[in-house]
Amino acid sequence: MRYPRIIAHRCGGALAPENTLAGLRVAARLRCRGVEFDAMLGADGIPVLMHDETLERTTLACGPVANRASTELVRLDAGARHHPAFAGEAVPTLAEALRLCAALDLWANVEIKPAPGLERETGRAVARAARGVDKLVLSSFSIDALREAAAAAEELPRALLVDSLADDWGRMLSEVAAGALHIDAKRASADRLQAALDAGVPVACYTVNRRDESERLFAMGATAVFTDRPDLWTPSEM
Ligand code: G3P
Ligand code: MG
Repeated sequence: MRYPRIIAHRCGGALAPENTLAGLRVAARLRCRGVEFDAMLGADGIPVLMHDETLERTTLACGPVANRASTELVRLDAGARHHPAFAGEAVPTLAEALRLCAALDLWANVEIKPAPGLERETGRAVARAARGVDKLVLSSFSIDALREAAAAAEELPRALLVDSLADDWGRMLSEVAAGALHIDAKRASADRLQAALDAGVPVACYTVNRRDESERLFAMGATAVFTDRPDLWTPSEM
């Protein structure tokens, strides 16, 4: 599994509304090689790009995402809260986002983000939507979601998301047949990182918005960092 070094967090990070196609276009324009985004289910079981369980932080609507069908979610404005210049930017479906990643030649990390109780359904639906996509890794904090994704599309690479590396990270990885770890940069320690890297497991760290912080992590051997500020790096450093 080959990772880009710099991964635009939630599509375009701070430079565009999160989890939107506009974000993907900004990331591509900055010559990012990789992006991360969050996929959650609408009430009809179709995954859309969304981080929160409720709509009010990132759209002009409110209430639970899981109560609305994807056909309704894609009509919501997911741009205006970021900046009026992005007003009218839609909530994309996962399928639309993956098509645009392919067109822009972007590597994608799809984070499976289940609403509580929908772990297995979300893992299954996201994996099915991602089948056949090259240059992709699925990740999740949810073991159940990852397990279900593995059952639905065994061939898709998977990464386990954790706040910090517990002693039994190896057992947890094998439980979901994942080949990589995504960890909170604030809790990354050199010895834990080294143990994973020695075992041939790539380690990507979230969310790093300063170059000096990324340099500390790369010096420890980190494979990649997720960032809201991909503009801090030049194309050749990505
Ligand atoms: O996938 C890395 C990172 O996105 C995990 O945290 O809350 O930003 O989805 P969050
Ligand atoms: Mg995420």
